[in-house]
Amino acid sequence: MKIAVINGSHRGRNGNTNSMVSAFLKGAKEAGAETVTVFLAEKEIKYCTACKACWFKTPGKCVIRDDMAEIISLTEDADVRVLATPLYFDNISSLLKTFIDRLMVTASPYWGKDREGECRHLTTKAAPQLVMMANCGFPERSQFQVISHWLKRHARNLNAQIIGEIYVPQGALLSVRENELGMVISNYLKTLETAGREIAIDRKLTPETEAVLEQKFIQDEVYIREVKKYVDSLLVKQDDQ
Ligand SMILES: Cc1cc2nc3c(=O)[nH]c(=O)nc-3n(C[C@H](O)[C@H](O)[C@H](O)COP(=O)(O)O)c2cc1C
Repeated sequence: MKIAVINGSHRGRNGNTNSMVSAFLKGAKEAGAETVTVFLAEKEIKYCTACKACWFKTPGKCVIRDDMAEIISLTEDADVRVLATPLYFDNISSLLKTFIDRLMVTASPYWGKDREGECRHLTTKAAPQLVMMANCGFPERSQFQVISHWLKRHARNLNAQIIGEIYVPQGALLSVRENELGMVISNYLKTLETAGREIAIDRKLTPETEAVLEQKFIQDEVYIREVKKYVDSLLVKQDDQ
């Protein structure tokens, strides 16, 4: 089975999003999955101009010359597509949204009603199953409400099945390696490896893994206090200059 990760973090390989994804992929690879990762930050992806040439003039081909065609050919045979993003103003990153809009080339210009009686693009090919992975700066899981809701709409539109949603608040802590907190993060990354293995083998997460992945690293109050200290220290340094 093949897993294609679309990483929409503007910090690319150095991002907290990639810390999550790397652990997940480690587990998936150990379980035998073939994987490919696309760092959108390293690619040139222009906006969809809504010219509809991909529907009416050059069916199935986008006329924009950039890296999108290469990404589609690299990932189109994936069984599972992982959409990975930092939370940006309560939503997916602009890089990821620009990529998603360019998937217009893969959608049929014909519409039809789905089982719930809502229109969506008719598809000729089964869309890959979807896993959503996101992290954010604030400490509450409720910060991901929009992404989770959007994912359900997106999956419906593409006629795809969602097989996992992994959301990490307090994302700034994902890079901590020292002290007791470093141990907590290291254990969390191990659980992400387990999640990768489960998706590679069973195409679903066990309730046990989901429960561990939903645990916070530290209490909100402690996190908020530490972030304030960090911000204070950076601002003091600037004042010194
Ligand atoms: C433009 C921008 C918008 C952001 N908006 C939010 C937000 O709405 N809520 C939140 O909790 N964190 C927000 N953050 C923080 C990021 O989600 C957080 O730093 C995350 O760990 C970044 O992941 P990355 O290192 O992969 O880029 C924002 C960061 C940026 C740069």
